[in-house]
Amino acid sequence: MNTIIIGSQWGDEGKGKLIDFLTESADVVARGQGGNNAGHTVMANGKKYILHLVPSGILWPGKLCVIGNGVVLDPMGLVDEIESLKKQGVTITPQNLLLSDRAHLVLPFHKEMDAASESSLGKKAIGTTKRGIGPTYSDKARRVGIRVADMRRPEVLEDMLRNRIRSANIELKNMGAQPVNEDQVVEEVEAAAKVLRPHIADTIPVMHNAIKEGKSILFEGAQGAFLDVDFGTYPYVTSSNTSSAGACTGTGVPPHKIDRIIGVCKAYTTRVGSGPFVTEDDEFADYLHGLGREFGATTGRPRRCGWADAVLLRFSSMFNGFDEMAMTNLDGYDQCETIKICVGYKLGDQILEYPPARSADWERCEPIYETLPGWKQDISGCRTWDELPVQAKAFVKRLSSLIGTPVTTVGVGPDREQTLVVGN
Ligand code: GDP
Ligand code: IMO
Ligand code: MG
Repeated sequence: MNTIIIGSQWGDEGKGKLIDFLTESADVVARGQGGNNAGHTVMANGKKYILHLVPSGILWPGKLCVIGNGVVLDPMGLVDEIESLKKQGVTITPQNLLLSDRAHLVLPFHKEMDAASESSLGKKAIGTTKRGIGPTYSDKARRVGIRVADMRRPEVLEDMLRNRIRSANIELKNMGAQPVNEDQVVEEVEAAAKVLRPHIADTIPVMHNAIKEGKSILFEGAQGAFLDVDFGTYPYVTSSNTSSAGACTGTGVPPHKIDRIIGVCKAYTTRVGSGPFVTEDDEFADYLHGLGREFGATTGRPRRCGWADAVLLRFSSMFNGFDEMAMTNLDGYDQCETIKICVGYKLGDQILEYPPARSADWERCEPIYETLPGWKQDISGCRTWDELPVQAKAFVKRLSSLIGTPVTTVGVGPDREQTLVVGN
């Protein structure tokens, strides 16, 4: 069974937790896009782990984790992440973590470019994670990138780095930013390459052999559907295809080998960074932040928060092809008197069934809400669907029917055992 897991909103839906939950019965966990802009939280064995580049399956012994060709990989960032996971007691070896030789490298000048481009945008800044993601994907598309395969031989790497750094420094100067120190970058990248070399592989045959042997693969999406460079709130998006198709181009596994696509959705909506957010509600955000929830796993920024948005989720389910949805954070509503679901967008005198293409129009959409009663009790102790209050079950079923996709699991807390299988 090969399953793609996709964030159905703007990221941070709880993909890490779901991947960890599903890894028990899988063999391989592969990332196909994004980089260390991702922050996936897993609570396991009484500890909190935050994964950025390493697939969330790494916490289970005996599972193979693959960083696919579509990922942009920060070599120093990855070495730091591996070290800190090892300190937390996680086993990471070339037997359980492979890096695609075709993945592109995020280098220090990409981060400088990211920061410079953000500051030049002023009020229109995207609110990126400043991890150099956009500039690295730009380099890939304009065919000047350096890839993991180029790290295999130190002399090749050094030559390529020096050439690219020189031209990058001219670009940085033109952007009004400081150049990077050539010798220092070469040294840092070579030191990281030394650690990472044993993990480098042609991961495409590895994936295909796993399929031939009948193994189960989980494709771990990063970010969310509306951060997709094609389908999202452009230009307030990330630079990769975060939607389901990205899992195939990002790992070399063709679409007909995929058996199931799961959309992870928060029971409400959050986003980090700028851009349209129709159901955003400051009062609701204060309520969630007051509970200590919704602070970014990568940057610590308080996330913007709003009500559930069925317009978003319906569209997301369409272009991702969700077979089912995994809902998380239902317990976020525990103290709410009433709960709102956005069932349509009003744009001028039109009612939209799907979001518009232009962010400027999307910003002008007003939510049409349906209001449901809350349950005013702590559901984090529930361990079966039947134990949930009727109002909670009614909310899940109503949102599911508005999306037109079955919700099959519901999260009532961050821990492994706080995922309930939805009943009738
Ligand atoms: P990801 O990027 O999609 O993996 O999500 P993040 O880890 O960035 O953010 C999701 C947050 O919600 C994390 O802090 C998780 O521990 C937490 N979480 C996931 N599912 C649930 C849930 O059902 N209830 C609660 N209370 N927290 C959850
Ligand atoms: P996970 O995998 C939430 C957002 C940034 C910004 C936009 C572009 O944890 O769900 P980038 O640095 O990618 O160029 O920033 O995308 N963003 C995320 N928001 N969760 C993420 O990852 C994100 N990765 C990027 O906040 O708005
Ligand atoms: Mg996250």
